[in-house]
Amino acid sequence: MPAMPVVSVAHMDKTVQAVVLGTGCLVASAAALKYYLNERTPKGCAKVRGSGWLGVLGALPEMWKCILKYEAHSELVKYHEDFGNTLDFDFGILQLFLAPMIITRDPQNVKFMLKTKFENFEKGETFHAIGHDVLGDGIFNVDGESWFKQRKTASQMFTANRFKQHIWRVVEKNCNKVISILAEKQEPVIDMFNLLNRFTLDSIGEIGFGADIGSLENPVSPFLKSFDEAQRILFKRFVLPGWRAFRLFGLGPEAETRQHMTALRSYSRRIVEDLADALEKPAGDSFVGLFMKNEPGLHPEFLADLVLNFLIAGRDTTAQALSWCLFQVMQHPEVEERILEEVDRVSFGKSLTYDQLSQLSYTEAVLREALRLYPSVPLDSKFVTEAMTLPDGTWVPRGSMVIYNSYAMGRSKQIWGEDAAEFRPERWLNAEPKDPYEYPVFHAGPRECLGKRLAMVEMKTVLAELLRHASFRLAVPRDQVLPDTAATLGMSSGLKCHYEMRL
Ligand code: HEM
Repeated sequence: MPAMPVVSVAHMDKTVQAVVLGTGCLVASAAALKYYLNERTPKGCAKVRGSGWLGVLGALPEMWKCILKYEAHSELVKYHEDFGNTLDFDFGILQLFLAPMIITRDPQNVKFMLKTKFENFEKGETFHAIGHDVLGDGIFNVDGESWFKQRKTASQMFTANRFKQHIWRVVEKNCNKVISILAEKQEPVIDMFNLLNRFTLDSIGEIGFGADIGSLENPVSPFLKSFDEAQRILFKRFVLPGWRAFRLFGLGPEAETRQHMTALRSYSRRIVEDLADALEKPAGDSFVGLFMKNEPGLHPEFLADLVLNFLIAGRDTTAQALSWCLFQVMQHPEVEERILEEVDRVSFGKSLTYDQLSQLSYTEAVLREALRLYPSVPLDSKFVTEAMTLPDGTWVPRGSMVIYNSYAMGRSKQIWGEDAAEFRPERWLNAEPKDPYEYPVFHAGPRECLGKRLAMVEMKTVLAELLRHASFRLAVPRDQVLPDTAATLGMSSGLKCHYEMRL
């Protein structure tokens, strides 16, 4: 057999050399890319892909469509029903630029994230960058030592004594203002979502930093609009590749970023200045006042970060939970009747006192049930610091974003049984306390919500007093009340109600 001729690149003419080298480079790059993508692809769970020609961008166009139609949460529930408890979202060619995204509703995975491997599931750089415009270096946006120190200081706010004295006084006063507004206005239709947000904003303003925000008296404030818009902008960044470029040039969803962020910053700086002037007065009896007293010399920008963190923590979540609760109560007269009967029995037909709140077990069950179906933080994300396998067998690469889906967990038949979709507060009565990893509406583990007790005090008081003083009826068809597209579960449509005073 004749020997095969040996051809070396050196003997080829220049054009052939270029073609061979070019092809070699292409093949090597394709192999490296495939290896890189494979290393960055989660394994062992269902994959959600895109379809049609837009499928080159994976599931992202479909996600944006749902977000813009305010259907993101209900669509995700369907994905879980159709494909499984843990989902990996394919982003097609954008996979090169975006962190892998895994969404889970499996309680074992949630426990692993929030407790067992707490150190390895952090907010991380990506979250920090996305949230920095609003949250800065505040408690929601940091990990490690900075988080730990802030948590330690802030938790001093929630002593039994402070609840009984300072916090209850603020809640009771602002609740009375809400009732007076209803009694005075008697308009045919009122947006209760708006009114409840003003209640929680003024309450956290006073509890958090001794400020009289006055939104119950004056609802028209440009700050309030910027506050909402800023949060919508942040949420969209999670699914907007290259959001930094959009922000830089003020394009698309980032067109109004500068305007809203400037409004928020100047507002929170003003609060810090006022607080510094009034530190010797009751302002010291507040979250931000505690920080100023414990660590004199903190940078004013950091204190402004704290103001915005506590405003977001304290206003939105609680007003949203209360609004969704009222939305359900309006559709369940038998629930309303049981609340009224309980409140009347406990308070002897008078205004509630702080000590009586703990006896409102049915009212509390109603609020828990509302939070099950409408968790104020519907999706909560963390980034993994190293590759690992979740308890359900899903392998996640380092740097992946793992999200637990509280909204889908609240509607899961595996967790709540066949009637998971029904609003039935009775399921909470005489039941074993629910595992916090099956019901993580207040988060769980070392970063559990610090304001859980405050939220319950506010919500029980307001729900009980509202129903004692007035009866409400939805002023729009129920399917026109839509969840908002933001990090927390607001109502994009508001909550328009008819009402009549009882007392
Ligand atoms: C119904 C009302 C509320 C719900 C459902 C709720 C839920 C949550 C959730 C899910 C988290 C974890 C968020 C994350 O991963 O970063 C959280 C954290 C937190 N919440 Fe709440 N929250 C509520 C009310 C409040 C209130 C009234 C305050 C008042 C100050 C508050 C203060 C905080 C703080 C400071 C954190 C951060 C804890 C940490 O990172 O260590 N929350 N909350």
